[in-house]
Amino acid sequence: MVSEHAPQPAAQVLVASNRGPVSYALREDGTLDAKRGGGGLVSGLSAVDDKMWVCAALGDGDREAVRRGVGEPGVRMLDIDADVHADAYNGIANSVLWFVHHLLYQTPVEPVFDAEFRRQWASFETYNRAFAEALAEEAGEGAAVLVQDYHLALVPGMLRELRPDLRIGHFSHTPWAPVDYFRLLPDDIAEQLLRGILGADRAAFLTRRWADAFIGCCAEILGGTGHTRIGVHGLGADADFLRGRAHEADVDERMAALREQVGPGRKTIVRVDRTELSKNIVRGLHAYRALLDERPEWRGRVVHIAFAYPSRQDLAVYREYTAEVQRVADSVNEAYGTADWTPVVLHVKDDFARSLAAYRLADVALVNPIRDGMNLVAKEVPVVSDHGCALVLSREAGAYEELGADAITVNPYDVSATAAALHEALTMADDERTARTKRLAAAATALPPQQWFLDQLEALGQG
Ligand code: G6P
Repeated sequence: MVSEHAPQPAAQVLVASNRGPVSYALREDGTLDAKRGGGGLVSGLSAVDDKMWVCAALGDGDREAVRRGVGEPGVRMLDIDADVHADAYNGIANSVLWFVHHLLYQTPVEPVFDAEFRRQWASFETYNRAFAEALAEEAGEGAAVLVQDYHLALVPGMLRELRPDLRIGHFSHTPWAPVDYFRLLPDDIAEQLLRGILGADRAAFLTRRWADAFIGCCAEILGGTGHTRIGVHGLGADADFLRGRAHEADVDERMAALREQVGPGRKTIVRVDRTELSKNIVRGLHAYRALLDERPEWRGRVVHIAFAYPSRQDLAVYREYTAEVQRVADSVNEAYGTADWTPVVLHVKDDFARSLAAYRLADVALVNPIRDGMNLVAKEVPVVSDHGCALVLSREAGAYEELGADAITVNPYDVSATAAALHEALTMADDERTARTKRLAAAATALPPQQWFLDQLEALGQG
């Protein structure tokens, strides 16, 4: 029963994000294949009736769908010029803003803000304006608009000018850079980004730490956050969905296949990531190598299952990182593998059912990002684990704020400490591991996606 005081979603809710809830692939016979995505926003928005999702067409299939007028009800895909989108998405969003917020630059030589950067920045403005204009067109009087992430940092300010009647929220799914690092950006660009987000009534983050970093940047660069309210909503795992999905037949099949690969009686250390620079996969492999090197008793008795799914392969630095992950995994197998034991099982083909299978059978989960907005793998594993799983968790992941107490926490740069943490996790007593997993699962599901989304709407309605 809905109580009188339950949060009442605004009459109309719009969400804007670069990547939408559906994407299209063009088949060889010319037909289009629709693929629906999951994630927190998709489940969150399901709690609302009157809604519209504005997103970008991301590839040839999406563009063709827009041209043919194919689409899902409630989804508007913007066919932004492919070169403009590439500059905005690959050039600015993923090569500049992502790098700034995750502290990824090799600062002696990067970044370089030159004429090419300015050209790409102009595309970033054009791309943000396309979103603001589409939202201004679609939004009914007084609607709530929830703008997502660094790709669309300029949208709140632009939309506010076009439609002062709207309630605008911005949500950052990434960390926020500390002010000294944020100031690597050219001064005018740093200001424009902050003012863009401050165009929202409310700017929200996954953790207090990222919100404070944003407030710190606004204080030092602009003198404050003005009238914009700042909030924190720590997205949790979707327990109902995960527990159901993890017990479907295809997951059971993959578990059997993984068990076969691992071999009887061996422990497993599992990691699942996009092959992403911030995920720190290479240091994770080095830590595993150090474990085998320093503690020979683990040789032949443990397998590292590493799923590293391709991501942002338009960018050379991501392609190189992908190759490096493969190289290091191969070198561990060459150094330590035997006829009947493969120390690292690396899979690179994205397969959600297989990820869930690995979550269920893992003895240890390794989540060691350099920096991460939240990291949902750390939250999903304890929810579906079959027999309890020890979590080795970077203190630089947003999830650390909620899960740190029951994880074995590491400085992600410290390979030796990570190796020691893996040993500690592998040797954790069964009852201790089970008890910790239970508490981790409770903390991980404290704010399920639908509530996470409704809380944001409710907070936007106030003030
Ligand atoms: C992060 C970002 C998302 C993004 C996702 C995948 O989680 O916060 O906005 O969609 O990475 O990256 P991609 O570039 O493939 O959309």
